[in-house]
Amino acid sequence: MSETILLAGGAGFIGSNLADYLLAESDADIVILDALTYAGNLMNLRNIVNNTRLRFIHGHIENSEIVNHICTRYCISGIINAAAETHVDRSIHSAAPFVQANIVGTQVLLDAAVKYGLRFIQISTDEVYGSLGENGTFTESSPLRPSSPYSASKAAGDMLTLSFVATYGLRASITRCSNNYGAYQFPEKLIPLMICNALEDKPLPVYGNGNNVRDWIYARDHVRAIWAAYKFGEPGEVYNIGARCEMRNIDIVKMILAILDKPESLIKFTTDRPGHDFRYAIDPSYAEMRLGWKPQAVFADALKETVEWYINNDEWLTAARSGEYRNYYARQYGKSF
Ligand SMILES: NC(=O)c1ccc[n+]([C@@H]2O[C@H](COP(=O)([O-])OP(=O)(O)OC[C@H]3O[C@@H](n4cnc5c(N)ncnc54)[C@H](O)[C@@H]3O)[C@@H](O)[C@H]2O)c1
Repeated sequence: MSETILLAGGAGFIGSNLADYLLAESDADIVILDALTYAGNLMNLRNIVNNTRLRFIHGHIENSEIVNHICTRYCISGIINAAAETHVDRSIHSAAPFVQANIVGTQVLLDAAVKYGLRFIQISTDEVYGSLGENGTFTESSPLRPSSPYSASKAAGDMLTLSFVATYGLRASITRCSNNYGAYQFPEKLIPLMICNALEDKPLPVYGNGNNVRDWIYARDHVRAIWAAYKFGEPGEVYNIGARCEMRNIDIVKMILAILDKPESLIKFTTDRPGHDFRYAIDPSYAEMRLGWKPQAVFADALKETVEWYINNDEWLTAARSGEYRNYYARQYGKSF
């Protein structure tokens, strides 16, 4: 029998990539529940909006009435939680929305999963592990040492999820992924921000000395892993998802400038973010072994594809950068940007 998935946060970056993937590569029906915060965008769904296997419901995951209604009305068989407040800098300005969406919201979805006996995937992040030094990688048994309100709220959501497995026998698994890039990423995150500014010949704000290291994965590889975890993952297990692609921020910025044929003089170093984690690196071997999944994208090619997507989606970009985002940008980087 085919699945009907409640995809929370399906109008965001990862959620909309996952919705595209599920409609193309699985026979699952999808009901998206999304609050359409500044990061959620119905334009992310424009290629699939007429698909009869997709429904969209506007609402918050903290609203148990809506969540319960969706579970019964659409005979939901599983929940994948991609709904979250996700930007570290915003969590430094105010932790409250992060606690609300990432902890309270997760709890409401977990309650519904227990009530209706559903499979559950909590999409999480490598940031729950905190920072690495020059060497080593995060494994699933690395201790949780979150250093921002964002990562702390995600760690709390993960802990709640595992507690529901132990306490109620919920069939829940967690994916913890490294930094994503690709189409539909809101232009406050490193790669789309640098692409957008370079396209407009504006300064490219790089934190500190740009030597912070992130481990990058193409969003399409991440969403394949999420679906593999849904189908083949075991309850109570955590799967680290990454593509063994460590890069210094400054090197990525230079690659983007080279793709766009723009000068490196556009780079402008800014005061470092408080509590800025130095390095993340994921060991994805366990997920590869248990889920039969492997990342496929080659970084240089997929980065070029991503740059081209932003060039070709001017209308999307203008919509995403209007309104609230402009206020945030001025507050974060000041008037000189
Ligand atoms: N983007 C990355 O690099 C990355 C890496 C690892 C893990 N993750 C995880 O993947 C998940 C999705 O991240 P993303 O990058 O797509 O984020 P995003 O900010 O692009 O999208 C989040 C979506 O959730 C929705 N949302 C927020 N609060 C909500 C609420 N209370 N109720 C309903 N909907 C709500 C937003 O409207 C938006 O559509 C997050 O849990 C994040 O921690 C992301």
